[in-house]
Amino acid sequence: MRRRFEPSGPLKGTLTAPADKSLSHRAALLAAMTSDPVRVTGYLDAADTNSTLAAVQALGALVEHGPDGVMTIRGTGLRAAAPAAGVIDVGNAGTLMRLLPGWLAGQPGGSWTLDGDESIRRRPVDRIAEPLRAMGARIDAREDRFAPFTVSGSPLQGIEYALPVASAQIKSCVLLAGLLAGGETSVIEPEPSRDHTERLLLRCGVTVTREGARISVCPQDELELRDLHVPGDPSSAAFHVAAAVLVPGSRIVIEDMAANWTRVGFLRILERMGAVLVGELEPAGAELSPDEPVTELDVAHGALVGTTVEAGEVPLAIDELPLVALLGCFAEGETVVRGAQELRVKETDRIATVVDGLRGLGAEIEATPDGFVVQGTGGLRGGTIASHGDHRLAMLGAVAGLASRDGVEVDGMEAAAVSYPGFEADLAGLRGR
Ligand code: S3P
Repeated sequence: MRRRFEPSGPLKGTLTAPADKSLSHRAALLAAMTSDPVRVTGYLDAADTNSTLAAVQALGALVEHGPDGVMTIRGTGLRAAAPAAGVIDVGNAGTLMRLLPGWLAGQPGGSWTLDGDESIRRRPVDRIAEPLRAMGARIDAREDRFAPFTVSGSPLQGIEYALPVASAQIKSCVLLAGLLAGGETSVIEPEPSRDHTERLLLRCGVTVTREGARISVCPQDELELRDLHVPGDPSSAAFHVAAAVLVPGSRIVIEDMAANWTRVGFLRILERMGAVLVGELEPAGAELSPDEPVTELDVAHGALVGTTVEAGEVPLAIDELPLVALLGCFAEGETVVRGAQELRVKETDRIATVVDGLRGLGAEIEATPDGFVVQGTGGLRGGTIASHGDHRLAMLGAVAGLASRDGVEVDGMEAAAVSYPGFEADLAGLRGR
């Protein structure tokens, strides 16, 4: 589906941030792992998170959609995932593909095969197979590292695992497996990454400790979870935030947005680039707690200067780095992102697709092995950009169009539905259409 985004007048108004994708995946998985019903409000209705609902249903959980957007999930309990009738289809959802095996690996006697779309089949699973095997699990993967792959449940032993990359998905997988393992399981992160799994496990009554870079859990009999509200997604809201900063005269408010410090790295980068943002964000390094803080964010157009994003900041802004590249085109001076080689294994190789895509719109941007370097030219000509089926690339193209001189045509706009089906409607609302 092709969509054209013309240069825009000011963005105005208030938007409730769409539900958080990371938290929705985790809400469905953890609810499926409990034996009492869990009431979830604010669950994201998008392709990725619907794949997770279908997966937990295939494993024996019951999902009921009640009035007023309340969803009730009746799980199977921690050690009672059902045999699936066929292959579990994770669709485009990397988070589902990396987290679910953590639960399944510790259930002896069960065997489950996971597969997904063309993009998912290019994304590595050896990163979770390695620690799960070290715990005693059996994983058989295509070429030893790609979907489709089969998880055969086995008795697990706790391990201490130093993550080779700062990835919340790998961390979460190992912690979930740790709930079913003998003894303590610890992961050591090279840099902090999003901590939703740790917070939710605390809410489920699990003792989770974080000492410096080391996060530990102990085996559990059952999880206890009752009600859960999913707040708005800072990664989805980031597209509107960027549009408001770039389009002269804009001023918007985003309500009910998660302000967890491990998710708002993009806003810190943006502030450093000179943007004026008003809203209370959780302080960096805040104590681990079961809560997910939310905020109301007030954003206005402003001039930007280039900045450098270093490796330590990357996991806190990983999904928003394409927007940093776009903002860099409009900033004064150079914008550099380093230590972001993880971008190469996202829904697309986001270093290649962002650099090629923005170049096609007139940007002066170079790829490096672990990021990119952008020369700010004060604007962007416009043209055509392909999403390559990557939701964040499609939305990047739309924002680029609003701020460009000639407008941008996005080829493959339908990809936005992976995380944000209402994106175009919300953007149109802020443009007063
Ligand atoms: C996610 C973690 C990140 C992120 C992805 C969602 C999660 O991936 O890019 O969109 O929900 O845990 P990595 O943990 O692999 O960096």
